[in-house]
Amino acid sequence: MDSQRIDLHSAIISLTCALDLVGIDEVKHGKRVAMMAWHIAGKLAWSAEDRLKILHAGMLHDCGVAKIREHRHLTESLEWDGAEAHCERGEQYLRACPPLSHLAEEIRYHHTRWETLVQLPLPARTRLRANLLFLADRIDVLQAPYLASEQILIAAPKIVERLQSYSGSLFCPELVDAFADLAQSQAFWLAMDPDYLDEDLRNLGDHIPMVLLPYPDLREIARLFSRVVDAKSPYTELHSERVAQIARRLAQSFGIQGADLEQVEIAGLLHDIGKLRVSEDIIDKPGSLTPEERACMQRHSYDTYRILQRVFVDSKIPEWAGLHHENLRGEGYPFKTIGPSLDLECRIISVADIFQALAQSRPYRAGMPLDDILLYLRQRVADGVLDGEVVAALAERADVYYELAQGHFAMD
Ligand SMILES: [Fe+2]
Ligand SMILES: [Fe+2]
Ligand SMILES: [Fe+2]
Repeated sequence: MDSQRIDLHSAIISLTCALDLVGIDEVKHGKRVAMMAWHIAGKLAWSAEDRLKILHAGMLHDCGVAKIREHRHLTESLEWDGAEAHCERGEQYLRACPPLSHLAEEIRYHHTRWETLVQLPLPARTRLRANLLFLADRIDVLQAPYLASEQILIAAPKIVERLQSYSGSLFCPELVDAFADLAQSQAFWLAMDPDYLDEDLRNLGDHIPMVLLPYPDLREIARLFSRVVDAKSPYTELHSERVAQIARRLAQSFGIQGADLEQVEIAGLLHDIGKLRVSEDIIDKPGSLTPEERACMQRHSYDTYRILQRVFVDSKIPEWAGLHHENLRGEGYPFKTIGPSLDLECRIISVADIFQALAQSRPYRAGMPLDDILLYLRQRVADGVLDGEVVAALAERADVYYELAQGHFAMD
């Protein structure tokens, strides 16, 4: 089997759940932007295809925002000089991902003023879609103080008025007018309630057919999200990519092949996706963590598991990725699963994760030399924590794996 059936709409929703975790105080920003843009596009009688495109672009529009700090700037004022960086990063991420590359251009320009946009050599529909993302994004910033409260109904006219004052400069007048019309209905605002939002987004997926994605395409989606996670800290650059390569190679040495091999690599790419929720102040902290910080760090593998469970139905990927901090003695987290219940693939990803992390510098220590790492891993085997066969397979070709742990990969 060289491809897997997935529900791309659900995958985008689930991956958006992960992205939305970046702004911890503003969870669901991407989903709200998507739904508001979808409603405004409906008001303008856009085609079903264009509406779907704006819905998915809305969910992913901030995929270039890696840092909570950056997110804070973007939500504090209507315009911010540093906004371009995440637009460019987002475009670059999506271009590299064939199943989503059709959304790259509008995401590139989702903080560009309308008066600038009309001068750029872009198709008219791209301009409109990019500007609709900008408008919906700014509506969300202004409504943020009233979220999950009916007080938004009192604040709404002021929000509309403020945005209307930018009609023709920041925003396309046609879009502002459609929004102003819609904004008169209470339903437009109340639909932003987190429960309704999730329900509406899932329901929209009922009419979208499943897609059969070849593994290379699926891998690109996984890679896109691994990059977002790893970009949170300079210390974890390419961590997931390298873990995936090491895990794939180790799996091959155990005779794992075909769909299982592809899934090991994808699980490796996605194993830390739950870290999107951990503040970079914790990830970058030079000293040891406080109990509160450690608790925050430790929840990431459970979050990984839950997020992936939604994306991949009938797949081992959530388990293989989500159990990477378990150990044979059942002293890991989050499930306390013990050795016999841990698939070989889980054990491989655990070892690959530890090996790569030790080879890479962290804020609290430099990258370790190979011999020291092997010594440490063997000690962990003796303690009954790590799988001896996996560590032996790694030690057998230690130089190759050490290179993989430090290597840069051409993103093909
Ligand atoms: Fe945004
Ligand atoms: Fe982890
Ligand atoms: Fe990791």
